[in-house]
Amino acid sequence: MTPETAPSEHASPPIRFGILGTGRITRRLVADLQSTPGANVSAIASRTSERARWYADSYGIANGVEGYSELIQRDDVDAVYVALPPSLHEEWMMAAAQAGKHVLCEKPLATDSAATQRMADTCQQANVHWLDATAWLHHDRTDLFRTWLANATAPQGENAFRLGALRHVSSAVSFFNPFQSGDHRQDASLGGGCLLDLGWYAAGMLRFANNGLPQTVQAQCVMRGGVPYRVTAMMDFPNDVSATMSCAFDTATRKWFEIAGEEASIVCDDFTRPWPDKPARGWVHEASGKVHPFSCECHQEHRMIERLLGWIDSTQEDASLWQSAETPWSDYHRQAIETQRLLEAIETSMKNQQTVTL
Ligand SMILES: NC(=O)c1ccc[n+]([C@@H]2O[C@H](COP(=O)([O-])OP(=O)(O)OC[C@H]3O[C@@H](n4cnc5c(N)ncnc54)[C@H](OP(=O)(O)O)[C@@H]3O)[C@@H](O)[C@H]2O)c1
Repeated sequence: MTPETAPSEHASPPIRFGILGTGRITRRLVADLQSTPGANVSAIASRTSERARWYADSYGIANGVEGYSELIQRDDVDAVYVALPPSLHEEWMMAAAQAGKHVLCEKPLATDSAATQRMADTCQQANVHWLDATAWLHHDRTDLFRTWLANATAPQGENAFRLGALRHVSSAVSFFNPFQSGDHRQDASLGGGCLLDLGWYAAGMLRFANNGLPQTVQAQCVMRGGVPYRVTAMMDFPNDVSATMSCAFDTATRKWFEIAGEEASIVCDDFTRPWPDKPARGWVHEASGKVHPFSCECHQEHRMIERLLGWIDSTQEDASLWQSAETPWSDYHRQAIETQRLLEAIETSMKNQQTVTL
């Protein structure tokens, strides 16, 4: 694998981001972009000029632009952050890529897996980078999980744990009825529902822990207002690993997983985002009952943005990287594309009430 450019090595000039959409998540990501060295926000677009200008003035952005096309064509935009409802991600990520802009796109990447593949292919043809804004994958703690999983039967170094062969993974992500009227998450035509919104994390966690897709998926769903409101799924992964996932809009906030090996398990109750004002945390449980707590401070959104900037730097320095079969971004792309496939399999299973084979 080609080595990544370390964030601290980011070359000037800064990458200028343009933002599509002025919703809830935009507030957080604009601040994160503005506070990441090597990035700045040059413009924001809304469907209306009033809102674009209000947002630009409120958040210290030089240009508030009416219309997403307008923003994408600007010369002072190098990369576009797509913060729109899921049903609009494909159209605007593709348009940005075709205009030669790198793309940071909110999760879920799209509403189905064929769209996800088209988006990835379009970016590849345009030689622009793309990344889904799944920030937990970039937390330093996630690197620990990767190391523990890779060395589950042969732990190495300090703070290493012997999990034994992986046997079961479980994940649950939910929150309770958080909506205001008109919320896109309650509108099927905009890609609403808990499966795309929260299943992206829960199913993505199972895919991450197994480094691939399951062989079978069996799912059930409670629908409300035309969108999935509570989804439960069981899966069989290769190497005799089973998995379960739950996501819901009608249970208390949950963002946990358990990765169970033959000798110990990792338990984490905040994997998508640490609880407010607390460091990221978790526990390794041994068979004897001994528990090893761990915690880790890291700004996962900064790490995510730094990673994208590092990829942009690396291909600016060496364009031949675009042709490499395996790159620093390959794993992240596989994670996103396969998570979308997994969500589609869950959706098919719950609609048809049948086991789906992948
Ligand atoms: N990564 C995370 O932690 C995280 C957290 C929350 C949400 N998200 C994801 O981010 C995306 C946006 O979520 P959000 O909660 O920010 O959404 P939101 O508050 O509903 O905002 C979406 C924005 O999209 C624009 N838009 C364009 N067409 C629209 C339409 N037909 N209906 C509604 N809005 C429309 C609007 O901006 P203008 O009117 O200004 O054009 C709106 O403000 C989703 O994919 C969501 O899953 C990610």
